[in-house]
Amino acid sequence: MSFPKPFNLDGKVSLITGAASGLGIVFAEAMAEAGADVVCADIADSVYETARKIEKLGKKGLALICDVSKEEEVLAMMKSAVDAFGRLDILFNNAGIAEEVPKPLHEYTTQEWNRILAVDLQGVFYCSREALKIMVKQKSGKIINVASIWGLAGSSGLFPVPAYNAAKGAVVNLTRELGLEYAPLGINVNALCPGFYRTNLGGGCDDPEFVKGVCAFTPMGRQAEPEELKGAAIFLASSASDYMCGQMIVTDGGVLAK
Ligand SMILES: NC(=O)c1ccc[n+]([C@@H]2O[C@H](COP(=O)([O-])OP(=O)(O)OC[C@H]3O[C@@H](n4cnc5c(N)ncnc54)[C@H](O)[C@@H]3O)[C@@H](O)[C@H]2O)c1
Repeated sequence: MSFPKPFNLDGKVSLITGAASGLGIVFAEAMAEAGADVVCADIADSVYETARKIEKLGKKGLALICDVSKEEEVLAMMKSAVDAFGRLDILFNNAGIAEEVPKPLHEYTTQEWNRILAVDLQGVFYCSREALKIMVKQKSGKIINVASIWGLAGSSGLFPVPAYNAAKGAVVNLTRELGLEYAPLGINVNALCPGFYRTNLGGGCDDPEFVKGVCAFTPMGRQAEPEELKGAAIFLASSASDYMCGQMIVTDGGVLAK
């Protein structure tokens, strides 16, 4: 059975960074369920498992080890993807890290700051630049940046993660800028801004105090399951979003509506 028309991704090639865990696995599955082949990239070996899941869904899954903060690894990843599939239609800039211990800025080391920025911002630059080289030639493409509600608001009312906020805020405005730059070239650049999803980000959500705080802070009173982002992911990857550029979709149980 094929996916309904505006959301159908038959014949498309997608690439998901950070595909070994959490939201990345769900984005990879969503792409395959809607009909796309999937390049699954991550620093973690379990990315091979994600690629196997894609094959089980009847699509081609290619696992690649890649650290998005290393330029030469991103170049090699893009080359392998294009060698294998001949094109690239959809990029999810999803790989990301967050502070494991929230703390105010004056307690940061330079190394801690640089590490978050290298993955969450520099990685988006490397992957977007290389994908755009391919998409500009194709005159089509979809880039979906996985930002955060903390790219649209400060987090310290709940916990301070200033490097993460700085990186995600930059990704939000980069999304606007790339959305404008590439709209005339047939390429849509948009972002997802999730609230609190149950994943391993920042060392995971198992701490009961963390969960209690997050649920109290969220009008819907709960965290989300990663699967709840599938619909928005398919929307941004498909022709359903063709008249949309430089925008954020916020899925946060009401946090930013307060
Ligand atoms: N979980 C949430 O509530 C939430 C909310 C807002 C935004 N996000 C964003 O969603 C994205 C995915 O996070 P998640 O929640 O699934 O977390 P996660 O920790 O479960 O998954 C992140 C994945 O990124 C990979 N990764 C880390 N550094 C990498 C690097 N240098 N190169 C390649 N891969 C790397 C990890 O190995 C892991 O597989 C992140 O960008 C995160 O900031 C998550």
